[in-house]
Amino acid sequence: MERVHVDLGARSYPIIIGPGLLDKAGEILPEFRVRKAFVVTDTRVDKLHGSKLRNALSHASVEASFAVIPPGERQKSLKRLGILAAQMLAQGFDRSSTVIAFGGGVIGDLAGFLAAVFMRGVNYVQVPTTLLACVDSSIGGKTAVNLPQSKNCIGAFHQPILVIEDVELLRTLSKRDLRAGAVELIKHGFILDPDLYNQLSSDFKRLLELEPGFTSQALRRSCEIKARVVSADERESGYRAILNFGHTVGHALESTAGYGVYRHGEAVAVGMLAEAMLAERIGFAQEPVWQPLNTLFSKMRLPTHIPQKISTQKLLNTMYTDKKNRDGNLTIVLPRKIGCVEPVTLRSVSDLNQVLLQMQRQEDKTTAL
Ligand SMILES: NC(=O)c1ccc[n+]([C@@H]2O[C@H](COP(=O)([O-])OP(=O)(O)OC[C@H]3O[C@@H](n4cnc5c(N)ncnc54)[C@H](O)[C@@H]3O)[C@@H](O)[C@H]2O)c1
Ligand SMILES: [Zn+2]
Repeated sequence: MERVHVDLGARSYPIIIGPGLLDKAGEILPEFRVRKAFVVTDTRVDKLHGSKLRNALSHASVEASFAVIPPGERQKSLKRLGILAAQMLAQGFDRSSTVIAFGGGVIGDLAGFLAAVFMRGVNYVQVPTTLLACVDSSIGGKTAVNLPQSKNCIGAFHQPILVIEDVELLRTLSKRDLRAGAVELIKHGFILDPDLYNQLSSDFKRLLELEPGFTSQALRRSCEIKARVVSADERESGYRAILNFGHTVGHALESTAGYGVYRHGEAVAVGMLAEAMLAERIGFAQEPVWQPLNTLFSKMRLPTHIPQKISTQKLLNTMYTDKKNRDGNLTIVLPRKIGCVEPVTLRSVSDLNQVLLQMQRQEDKTTAL
């Protein structure tokens, strides 16, 4: 079993990682004074793994109620939030109750926000079931729902009291979802931990095959990086922005292609490549950063180019209208070398434009995207 401590003073919490952990949740949960729990999950996760959590909760004598909702990003809505809060109220949940988020990032963000606002805030536990949720969305306390016109527009910072990561639950994910989720893990190594990055570069197959010891260790190291960044900048006032490496171009690609075409991690992979190429082009990078990433992502059969049918002008427009940009300048996180990235404000758009065009010219024989 691996353990990571997220150091946030009074709001600190552990992340516990290992195969078969859900079977032991009965022993872990009472330590955190979970007595009455409102579990939010989706139909898919419930069907695949719900019985394990139900058994664990009954073993721990936790009085539990399950809210099982359809899967999908559309559930991150104010409407669903209202329905869940009304259910909690009707079922007698109060400020001493605990919310359990059992699913991917959608469930984590929605249930986390429910916990942030129900009776002005109750405890919650994250039990992530996707690779992305394990290394990213379940850690750091960012919770939110969407408005039709803006993703994650209504939200709060609210830290969980515990994160339980059972790597066995990841076995039911598709290979494509595993590959996409692995990108955030590789990103964590790339921005702060060259050893982790190098290990994943040579041994990524062991992760994609979910070899238990290797996977638990890789998750632990990735979570440590996210935890370290969150501890240093809980409310994203500066430093936490380094986690956005690959996301400026990645988000633009995701939204320009139309949500659902790319998995988030796939778009981030293309974004990391574009941003690494830009760092080399403007002389910011002190060592080759694009080639090693390109070799790794190609071997992993992730997309490595921008399709011809996507207009680079549209991508640029999306990046420049992003809410995070001030004064019309674009700030983008670029690598100096593997293990070191920094935000850079671009004075002109031309280098980025050239990079996007070059990424479009890249022949990609490995993926249909
Ligand atoms: N809060 C944060 O810091 C943060 C960070 C990154 C992403 N996010 C959010 O996370 C969301 C994306 O999360 P996601 O990629 O986990 O997607 P998701 O939650 O939509 O899950 C993807 C699909 O996988 C299914 N699934 C979940 N676990 C499974 C399992 N073990 N086996 C088989 N199928 C399983 C789900 O039913 C769903 O259909 C987005 O809403 C994004 O905004 C939040
Ligand atoms: Zn991401």
